[in-house]
Amino acid sequence: MSTRPGSRIVGIGSALPEHVVTNADFEKRLETSDKWITERTGIRERRMGGSTSELAIEAGMGAIKSAGLSPSDIDFMILSTTTPDQTVPATSAVVSDRIGIAGGAMDINAACAGYVYALVVANSLIVMGQRRILVIGSDTLSKITDQNDRSTAVLFADGAGAAVLEATDNSSLLGWDLGIDGSAQPILYCDHGGYMQMEGREVFKRAVRAMVDSAKRALEMANVGPSDISLVVPHQANIRIIEAANERLGIDMSKTAIVLDTTGNTSSGSVPLALHDAVKKGMVDRGQLVLFSGFGAGMTWASAVMRWDADAIG
Ligand code: UT7
Repeated sequence: MSTRPGSRIVGIGSALPEHVVTNADFEKRLETSDKWITERTGIRERRMGGSTSELAIEAGMGAIKSAGLSPSDIDFMILSTTTPDQTVPATSAVVSDRIGIAGGAMDINAACAGYVYALVVANSLIVMGQRRILVIGSDTLSKITDQNDRSTAVLFADGAGAAVLEATDNSSLLGWDLGIDGSAQPILYCDHGGYMQMEGREVFKRAVRAMVDSAKRALEMANVGPSDISLVVPHQANIRIIEAANERLGIDMSKTAIVLDTTGNTSSGSVPLALHDAVKKGMVDRGQLVLFSGFGAGMTWASAVMRWDADAIG
């Protein structure tokens, strides 16, 4: 296989608020049940609390430490978030300052597909000459969710994950696909000062289609097939969406990173949280291929195929 300059992941971190909200907690105050939530979504509990920047800082520091680096080794930072702490400035301003990163920093908002968008953008900045980029995904969706609306409250939660990407002559990123269909904006949105509004069934249908089509395009660019993939890291929204997409791609659930049972849907946090968990469990070895795949409000979608090229990190 030919090589080309690009990036590889050398460190991972994650952060979850301490406060656990179980399905039983919702049962006590909403017309819902543990059975309904578990069967329809796969979620058993989720974490709520903290701010987007606090969670991002913890995850980002963890990723730098796991890479054996210090903040001064990082020359750029990207924060994927849909729930910035303020409208202005970007949350990356606060996060990069608190971590102590000297280079540029910016927020990216591509909703729940944002983390995979950020990985691809970071890779292109590295191709253009950056050495190391900290890519964080952090969201506090509980802040923009009506906790009395059973159709959304049981789904959305808070969390963050991060990875350090480093320049290499043999890029890990083998294929990618980023997309958006803005005509689908009305099925999932949140106005300023409002709460998440969602047509769940419609989002579900489109999510499966978007994930499968996008993953196929990224696999094609990488010149590999689903059977070459050792680990899938999908957006953690609903176990049934992941099962349906995997079935259509022909990828076994045993090769899939799942954390949504304990995290709920953490938007930008979900893919790096799932990656960190899978790496800690030893689900991927050096040289194996990882498929990242996400979808979100917009509707956005994003996939990436990466050759895992890190020694044990966790
Ligand atoms: O990051 C992207 C964000 N969003 C998503 O990924 C969400 C995608 N959609 C989904 O995950 C699913 O559509 C949901 C989990 C949101 C809903 O599951 P569903 O199987 O599509 O259920 P439904 O919306 O068709 O609702 C079935 C019933 C309805 O009652 P009726 O009309 O049949 O009487 C709902 O009112 O379930 C009711 N329902 C609930 N019942 C108990 C909705 N939420 C709840 C709840 N507890 N929490």
